[in-house]
Amino acid sequence: MAKRRVLFKMSGSIACYKACQIVSRLVQTGYEVQVACTHGALQFIGEATLEGLTGRPVFTDTYERARMMDHIELGRWAELAILCPATAHTLNRFAVGLADDAVGSLFLAYDLAKKPYLIAPAMNQGMLQHPATREALRKLAAWGVRVISSEEGWQACGDIGPGRLADPDLIYREIVEALK
Ligand SMILES: Cc1cc2nc3c(=O)[nH]c(=O)nc-3n(C[C@H](O)[C@H](O)[C@H](O)COP(=O)(O)O)c2cc1C
Repeated sequence: MAKRRVLFKMSGSIACYKACQIVSRLVQTGYEVQVACTHGALQFIGEATLEGLTGRPVFTDTYERARMMDHIELGRWAELAILCPATAHTLNRFAVGLADDAVGSLFLAYDLAKKPYLIAPAMNQGMLQHPATREALRKLAAWGVRVISSEEGWQACGDIGPGRLADPDLIYREIVEALK
């Protein structure tokens, strides 16, 4: 049977290491995973890890030689897309339709009406509770994006509050369910 195709996008959060656990589990359970990263995400996790986990080169640069159409094609290829972790910056960009990098272009070109798109926010509690971010999440949900709520708890900055990435097991299960 053909493998189900997941476009797994990451943005620049400390939670990128948790997202790698989800990518690894997807690959081990028979999914084909293509990772696309913001330049920020690559500050937190290396291309060697991501390519090593998936067997596919990471897509980051819209203008990369021999991949000039990947900012459109990977969205067509995918049966499901997820942004995990979703930073405040990238989800606010999505909500105003900015295509200023590969991850933003892929979002705009993706057919939200036909295929699932999941977002798992991870950020400082103040960033999450800012009206701009709250409005962006509301807008994205109204467009058909499934938002996987973050958890309350201890944050890397020392704050305690909402904004921790949801449990990786839960995110994995959401992906599996959405593809059924
Ligand atoms: C150590 C560290 C951890 C960070 N963690 C987060 C985070 O969890 N969520 C977030 O929204 N931004 C976080 N940031 C800030 C983002 O990396 C920054 O806003 C960046 O511009 C995001 O760009 P991107 O969304 O294009 O990847 C962090 C920055 C640093 C230095």
